[in-house]
Amino acid sequence: MAGRIPPEFIDQLLSRIDIVDVIEKRVPLKKAGKEYQACCPFHTEKTPSFTVSQQKQFYHCFGCGAHGSAIGFLMDYDHMNFVEAIEELASDAGLEVPREEGATDRPRQDFSRLYELLEQANRFFQQQLREHPEASRAVEYLKKRGLSGEIARDFGIGFAPPGWDHYRHLVKDQADIRALQTAGLVSTGDSGKPYDRFRDRIMFPIIDSRGRVAGFGGRILEGDGPKYLNSPETPVFHKGEILYGLYDVRRSHAGKQQILVVEGYMDVVALAQSGIRNAVATLGTATTERHLELLFRTAPKVVFCFDGDRAGRDAAWKALKTALPSMKTGREARFLFLPEGEDPDTLVRSKGADAFRALVENAPTLSRFLFDHLSGEVDTTTLDGRARLADMARPLIERIPPGSLHDLMTQELAHLTGLEITPGKRATPPPPPSARNPRVGSKSTPVRHAIRLLLEQPALALSPDLPQAWRSSNARGIDLLVQLMDHTHANPDITTAGLIDRWEDERIREQLSALATTDLSIPEEGLAEEFHDALERLAHQYHKYQRDQLLEQLKHATDDAEKRELIRRISELNAQRPDGRKTD
Ligand code: UTP
Ligand code: MN
Repeated sequence: MAGRIPPEFIDQLLSRIDIVDVIEKRVPLKKAGKEYQACCPFHTEKTPSFTVSQQKQFYHCFGCGAHGSAIGFLMDYDHMNFVEAIEELASDAGLEVPREEGATDRPRQDFSRLYELLEQANRFFQQQLREHPEASRAVEYLKKRGLSGEIARDFGIGFAPPGWDHYRHLVKDQADIRALQTAGLVSTGDSGKPYDRFRDRIMFPIIDSRGRVAGFGGRILEGDGPKYLNSPETPVFHKGEILYGLYDVRRSHAGKQQILVVEGYMDVVALAQSGIRNAVATLGTATTERHLELLFRTAPKVVFCFDGDRAGRDAAWKALKTALPSMKTGREARFLFLPEGEDPDTLVRSKGADAFRALVENAPTLSRFLFDHLSGEVDTTTLDGRARLADMARPLIERIPPGSLHDLMTQELAHLTGLEITPGKRATPPPPPSARNPRVGSKSTPVRHAIRLLLEQPALALSPDLPQAWRSSNARGIDLLVQLMDHTHANPDITTAGLIDRWEDERIREQLSALATTDLSIPEEGLAEEFHDALERLAHQYHKYQRDQLLEQLKHATDDAEKRELIRRISELNAQRPDGRKTD
C-alpha cells in the first residue's frame, strides 16, 4: 500500500477542478439559476431533483438524499474508493498524487508484469478456444450447456489446451517463469520443474475492480478430478475480495438498484445470456465482509441465491451473519433458495428470465430468513422455546448498526416471543473517538450549528470580529470546528467540498456532507450574524460550565484557603465576558 495522501494535496486538487465538469462528463447537466440540475443518476425519477452547486462544489439530490463532492460523486457513480477517485481527478487535472511515507507503509510493489502475463494468458486461452485442434470438444461442451458464441466472447471464455508447457508461449526470460508461478499460472512439482497449472479446461477469466485479469477459474470438460480449478491466492488475486462478474455489472450500470449473488461462474454467464445482467458469483468460498462492502457500494439491494439443499442453507446462514454489520439504513439483503437440484443456470434455462426475476422479487428478506431459521431450531409454542429464540436472536440483531432495520427486528422479536426486549449490550462497541478524527454529535448543538453554517459559507470564518473564547470550550466536536476554522484561514478560497474532503476518515466526510445538506432556512444576509451568535453561545456555555464547576467545588470545599482561592477564581470569571475579553 502506498503512503497517505497529504491533505494539502487534496486542497490543491479540489481548488483546481470543478465539480460541474466532473459530473457533466457523466451526467448531462442543465443550468438552472445559480445551480445545475439533472435527473438523479442514483435513483429513478422523471423530474430533476439532482442539483449541483458550483459555488459549494457540492451536489445534492432532493429526491433520494444522495450528496457529496466531486470525489464523493466518483466514489458513488464510478464505484471508486477515495484514493482511486483522487487519482482519477488528479490525472484529469494533470497532477501527480504525492504520498507521505509513513513507518507503517509496506514498500510499494510493482505487479505490472504479473498483470501483463495474466492478460497475455487470457488472450492465449481465448485464441486457443478458436484455434486449437482439441478445442472442438470445449466448443461442443459450451454449446451443449446452451452458451452462445456471443456470450462466451463477452465473458472472455477460453480454453487451456491439454499439455504441460504452453506457458512457454508467454515467457520472455527466466524471471517471467517465476512471475507466472507467482501469478498462479505455473506450478512446480517436487523436482522444481515448472508446468501449466490449467490443462484441458474451459477458462473463465476473473476480472478485478479495475478491469484487470487477476486470476482464472478452469472447468474440466468431462471426467474425473475436481470440477473447477481456480487460481491460488496470489499477490493480485484474493478470493475474499473479488467477485466474478462484478466489474461488468458495474461498468454496464446493470446493478445500480439491485445485485444478485450466485454460487457458480456458469450461473453468472447463463443469467447474463438470458438478459439478467446484474449477477455476480463468489469464487467457491464463503461471502466475506469485504464482498459485502463491494456489493453494497454497487447497489443498495443485494439478493443472495443459494441452493435449497442443506449445504446451501448453511452457506446462506453464514452469509447472513457476515452481512449483519453491513446492514446500514437504506440497505437491503434478501435470501433466495432455489428448489433442490436446481441452480440459477438450470432454472433460468428451463423456466425463463421472467420466472427467475419473479423468484428474486419474492425472495425472503434478511429479517424473515433470520427469524424462520431460528424458529426452526426451537419450539416456539413453549415459553422456554420463545426465550431461547430471544437469546439466539438478540446478539445477532445487535450486530446490525443502529437504524430502522435494527429497530424493526427488535420489535419483530418482541412480537414473536411476547417478551419485552431490552436492548442488550452491543456486541461491537462503537470505535472510540480519536484525537485526530474528532466527531460531532448527532443532536443539534451550537457546535453542529456553527459547522453547518461554516459549510454553507466557509468565508464566515474570515470575519474579523468573531468571538474567540469558544475555542477553549470542551463541547463535543469543538476540535473539528477549530480545525475547520483554522483551515479556512489558511485557505481563504476553500469551498464546502474542500472542507469536507480533506478528511481521510470516511465517517467524518460522511458526517460533514450529511450536515451540509440539512435544511438551513437562513437567508444569505443573515448567515454572518447567525455564525457569530453560535460561537458566542458556545463561549457562554463554556463560561457557565466553568462557573458551575467552581461553585460545585466551593460547596464541598472544607479548607479556608481553598475556599478563598475558589471565590477569587469565580469572581475573576464573573468579571470576564464570555467572549474572553475583560469587561472595562
Ligand atoms: P457448482 O458446482 O455449483 O458449479 O460450484 P457451477 O458453476 O454450477 O458449475 P457447473 O454448472 O457444474 O458447470 C459453484 C462454484 O464453486 C466453485 C466454483 O467457483 C464454482 O463456480 N467450485 C466448485 C470450485 O472452486 N471447485 C469445484 O470443484 C467445484
Ligand atoms: Mn451449475
